Amino acid sequence: MSDPVFSDLLKEERVFAPPPAFAADAVGTPALYQRAAADPLKFWEDHASELEWFEPWQQVLDWQPPHAQWFVGGRLNVSHNCLDRHLAGPRRNKAAIIWEGENGEQRTLTYLQLHRQVCHFANAIKSLGVVKGDRVAIYMPMLVEAAVAMLACARIGAIHNVVFGGFSPDSLTDRINDSRCKILVTADGGWRRGKQLLLKNEADLALASTPSIDHVVVVRRGAEDEFACTMRPGRDLWYHEIMLDAPVECRAESMDAEDVLFILYTSGTTGKPKGIVHTTGGYLVGTYTTSKYVFDLRETDIYWCTADVGWITGHSYIIYGPLANGATVFMYEGAPNYPKHDRFWKIVEEHQVSIFYTAPTAIRAFMKWGDELPARHDLSSLRLLGTVGEPINPEAWMWYHQNIGSERCPIVDTWWQTETGGIMIANLPGAKPQKPGFAGHPLPGISAVVLDEDGSEIATGSGLLAITQPWPSMLRTLWGDDERFRQTYFSRWDGSIYFAGDGAKRDKDGYFMILGRVDDVLNVSGHRIGTMEVESALVDNPVVAEAAVVGCAHELKGQGIVAFVSLRGKLAGDEELRDKLKQHVAKKIGAIARPEEIIFAADLPKTRSGKIMRRLLRDVAEGRALGDTTTLADPAVVEKLRTLYEDKEG
Ligand code: PRX
Repeated sequence: MSDPVFSDLLKEERVFAPPPAFAADAVGTPALYQRAAADPLKFWEDHASELEWFEPWQQVLDWQPPHAQWFVGGRLNVSHNCLDRHLAGPRRNKAAIIWEGENGEQRTLTYLQLHRQVCHFANAIKSLGVVKGDRVAIYMPMLVEAAVAMLACARIGAIHNVVFGGFSPDSLTDRINDSRCKILVTADGGWRRGKQLLLKNEADLALASTPSIDHVVVVRRGAEDEFACTMRPGRDLWYHEIMLDAPVECRAESMDAEDVLFILYTSGTTGKPKGIVHTTGGYLVGTYTTSKYVFDLRETDIYWCTADVGWITGHSYIIYGPLANGATVFMYEGAPNYPKHDRFWKIVEEHQVSIFYTAPTAIRAFMKWGDELPARHDLSSLRLLGTVGEPINPEAWMWYHQNIGSERCPIVDTWWQTETGGIMIANLPGAKPQKPGFAGHPLPGISAVVLDEDGSEIATGSGLLAITQPWPSMLRTLWGDDERFRQTYFSRWDGSIYFAGDGAKRDKDGYFMILGRVDDVLNVSGHRIGTMEVESALVDNPVVAEAAVVGCAHELKGQGIVAFVSLRGKLAGDEELRDKLKQHVAKKIGAIARPEEIIFAADLPKTRSGKIMRRLLRDVAEGRALGDTTTLADPAVVEKLRTLYEDKEG
């Protein structure tokens, strides 16, 4: 195999320094980087000391690659740190969660109220026979009770396995069976784009083949019988009924720092999802520390992360990190375009959201919907913006900066993964200038590098993203498959270096640009090109809303580039526009990146978490049978694309 050198062709020279007032008062200062570099273990230990431990640790780190143990011998409880810790001081009656339903309903739970709910529910599931170490599946819409259920598990030492509510019953079955969950917590339904999502009915389909499940606890979303569902006597119980009988006193279980906190399944290169295992002490220290500095958290903030609790972003940056910091978290049930496309901006204005964290795919949707929507609202409460989940093209970054941040709010582009548990690369907003499209520097305490195939460091240039030292919130293993854990993440180089699976470019200032998964890399005439770079170039053209690029077999070049493009507004694609866009890419990057083919499509196939599924596009582009479509949000989209492509070819 040739060197994993991407042709880093994208030129980005804009730099945005932190606004002076922001920098002057920032939680994360430049000194933090020096402090961590001087003694990384001490850095993490100092932050661990800001939390409450029942027993102190004897050793900060025991590293037997690829197995790390952090805060060895220490004992603590995550729910205690996210709740009880705040009750003795002024946060006692501060809002912990402000929730808004899609239908406009609102609920606020103070730290005291959330604590009581969590204790009640912890006792309720204990009475169903759940004990420390048992697995609890949670399949919920974005309701406060999802947070209650997670924190209640953490309180009694049960291991939660949250399955995104948009996953199919089959996916739920697999995830329950792989970790042999004892109970399932779900809801009769929720609202999504004005429609009822009947989740319990979906769960029932999954439950037909989950022998380990003894009980199903069902949260009632609306009024009695508002959401149709059947309760199986003896197995199914209403949340509000079991809560009534449950006592409110519930001691937080003393957990070993390395006891498992949760399992979260994520897709890998094979068809079988991987159960990522996170433990108690390190995960909490990691998410607590990164939330504090990356989001510059303050007592008065209203912090909104638009992710679903079913993903790692929801776990780490809706629940554990912010609550460990005593922050006020805003949580929204529904779709961004209901009842109108300006719903998010209406929320920001009404709730005076000050920190807003979302995904580039959402930002590109906002762009497509038009500048006038955010312009209709007063967004002056915002002071910090964030992105996560995929590379953000500089054009979307600039749009976000101008139209949402009014050129006033720093943007943190946060690179991390389900596996890393917490943010790894992002420039602290008050400490370092931001460059559009670059995640920036590794966080204090994180050792990220770019390596070549042989493991030599690439100081400036492109290669494979790797982490050379363990970090507290790293995954510990894969549930039931330690060998796959070692193979997937630690076998690429010397057995102690974590292989992230992403390509990255490091510029002369030490900024990392994430180039996308290495399996999405194209090789055109011997030149390796990150799909994201071509996509950025396409999206850079004002007519393009979104683009996805894949490789197709090409007689002469090895691989050619096929671009799937959705246009802004009501624009229709024609031959002339096709040529114009090819030309645009050639101009922006170079002739080698000129797409062979451009296919216009109303929608691109995406996972339910919003990631474009390039694998499926490759199948379409190469005329193969479609691969696994179970995680696709709308399987019809890919079929439509295939028809378009075949029409074009034919
Ligand atoms: O390819 C990277 C991309 O998302 C992958 C991790 O996906 P997941 O485990 O689902 O977690 C998503 C939320 C943390 C990474 O391997 N990714 C994530 N954040 C970024 C990113 N790519 C570029 N820039 C980011 N900020």
